[in-house]
Amino acid sequence: MSDDPIAFVGGGNMARSLISGLIGAGFEADSIIASDPQDSQRELLDELGVRTTASNRVAFGNARVVVLAVKPQVLGEVLEAAEGLREDHLLVSIAAGVPIDSMVLRTHPGQPIVRCMPNTPALLGAGITALFANRAVSEAQRQLAEQILAAGGRTLWVDDESKLDAVTAVSGSGPAYFFYLMEAMIDTGIEQGLDPETATVLTLETAYGAALMARERTEPPAMLRANVTSPGGTTAAALSILDESGARGIIKQALDGARARSKELAKEFG
Ligand SMILES: NC(=O)c1ccc[n+]([C@@H]2O[C@H](COP(=O)([O-])OP(=O)(O)OC[C@H]3O[C@@H](n4cnc5c(N)ncnc54)[C@H](OP(=O)(O)O)[C@@H]3O)[C@@H](O)[C@H]2O)c1
Repeated sequence: MSDDPIAFVGGGNMARSLISGLIGAGFEADSIIASDPQDSQRELLDELGVRTTASNRVAFGNARVVVLAVKPQVLGEVLEAAEGLREDHLLVSIAAGVPIDSMVLRTHPGQPIVRCMPNTPALLGAGITALFANRAVSEAQRQLAEQILAAGGRTLWVDDESKLDAVTAVSGSGPAYFFYLMEAMIDTGIEQGLDPETATVLTLETAYGAALMARERTEPPAMLRANVTSPGGTTAAALSILDESGARGIIKQALDGARARSKELAKEFG
């Protein structure tokens, strides 16, 4: 058996999509091992051709990196029972809200740890993940962590762990805000006489097209918005109602609420 360069602990949705992305990017399936207590999860992973085990100890094995892809609530017990975890294992945690200090407490004082905040579109390879590394992480380990998370989409680094709370508010929870807007637009389209399928297609394609324009064009969103808002026109009528009703302030409050909750959750894990 060759060394296990990449081990996944927890073989659920996120692990599976990252593993698929890694294989798609050219990683050998048999250089990946994943542990999960559920037979059904391991069967899905078997289909990807990776090695699977019910034992986290076996997964740690000779891995140079261990991706922690369990729910935040079980991460503590996984680390406390982490027989076979060595100080030179790079840990890459995708568990939302679990601070590095609380992981170090349960591992080794000099443990290299990268904490990441991915988002749901990572399941389709269209995510954005922010990463933060503690001081024990070497340059080569940073590159490895980035390569793994790039399997779920774009990546960027933050220079302070506390910024992950703002990342959670903007991109971690962000997809839900756009889904909420889509729901409201679909419902209103139906109320205005469109059939549900038409209202849905119009909304989703508009969201996709707007995101593509905002991403591909050099102009900032404010400029793109101004460009499509003729004075006295329909878009201007809609936007003035949004402004007058304080929508911008409400969005700010919502993101502030998400960030505050992220900080609270981190304290609970501390
Ligand atoms: N899904 C997303 O879009 C997303 C976005 C950002 C961050 N994340 C983070 O990614 C992590 C994984 O999320 P997910 O959606 O992939 O969750 P998931 O589908 O529930 O996968 C977690 C897997 O870990 C297994 N597990 C439970 N205890 C274990 C143990 N002691 N050792 C090994 N495996 C164990 C679970 O089995 P059981 O079912 O038996 O518990 C489950 O199969 C979470 O921490 C989440 O915060 C996810």
